[in-house]
Amino acid sequence: MGYFVPDNVVTNDDLSKMMDTNDAWIQERTGIKERRWIEKGSSETSSSMGAKAARIAIERSGLTKDDIDFIVFATLSPDMYFPGCGVQIQDILDMPTIGALDVRNQCSGFVYAMSVADQFIKTGMYKNVLVIGAEFHSGGLDLTTRGRGVSVIFGDGAGAAVLSRTEDNNKGILSTHLHSEGKHARELVVEAPSIAHWVPQILEDNDPDDESYYPYMNGTFVFKNAVVRFSEVIMEGIKANNLEVSDIDMLIPHQANLRISQFIQKKFQLRDDQVYNNIMKYGNTTAASIIIALTEAWEKGKIKENDLVVLAAFGSGFTWGSVIIRW
Ligand code: UT7
Repeated sequence: MGYFVPDNVVTNDDLSKMMDTNDAWIQERTGIKERRWIEKGSSETSSSMGAKAARIAIERSGLTKDDIDFIVFATLSPDMYFPGCGVQIQDILDMPTIGALDVRNQCSGFVYAMSVADQFIKTGMYKNVLVIGAEFHSGGLDLTTRGRGVSVIFGDGAGAAVLSRTEDNNKGILSTHLHSEGKHARELVVEAPSIAHWVPQILEDNDPDDESYYPYMNGTFVFKNAVVRFSEVIMEGIKANNLEVSDIDMLIPHQANLRISQFIQKKFQLRDDQVYNNIMKYGNTTAASIIIALTEAWEKGKIKENDLVVLAAFGSGFTWGSVIIRW
């Protein structure tokens, strides 16, 4: 595993110079103290950050880029409308002409991407799959007071993992659990550009009040659904493997809001050392958040051989899911 975040630290006080917000509000409602944003004018993108994370992951796996059989890239902030970031990685890392797939599942993107890789490995089709989650949010946020309910939350960054086949049935990914509820698609959304928002029309209208390019989130509604779905999908994974919540050694929740993670921790009566959070430093990095947190927890020695590691995510779509891993 590996991760990369831009050097540029943006504090809550920095944001209060751009819009009507303040450190106390952001920390109290979200737990976020600072986030990393790509420096304006930099050539960094989701693909380039993903490639940096991937290089670290491949090197640590003891494999070379030529051993990778397939790429799965999760992002909601791709470099281009199309093609996706997966093919950019194939090119940037100078890999053989292997398949590359983009996953469009927002905050659940990494969980979905791991599930895709897991199925390819378990069916025997591929041996080593590179899974990447990366987001370049800062380029697409409304940095005026109008966008403050969303913009203060998101950060840029990338993480990557190499998933490889093991012959030991008791190790690795035990199961994955995926869900969606599309009737809530518009509760957390970026509408444009899209074919429904016909680009020539948008250009002709040239309307400075057109908010369709910016993320919209019904925060309270999303929060209420998140706490329910997080809990459900963690329990689903635990039960599917005949385990108990008390068997969890490390829970890595998608870093949406520290208050959501704390709610889940309290609900399941987990100790502080059983849950890893880093939203305080990086904000919500969407498809990158779980793999950045997982890598960081592992680098700090918080995950040991044979530990039961649970990943869980909820986000736009709505989509949600969990991954149950015996480390
Ligand atoms: O990762 C994908 C999934 N995402 C989530 O799970 C996020 C879920 N939602 C949340 O985390 C929370 O709903 C937020 C952090 C987004 C918002 O917190 P909230 O406690 O739900 O606040 P709110 O939206 O109800 O806003 C409360 C007040 C409003 O003012 P009034 O109407 O009470 O006067 C907002 O205008 O806070 C105001 N406000 C702000 N004030 C200062 C909203 N954003 C800001 C801000 N700074 N950045």
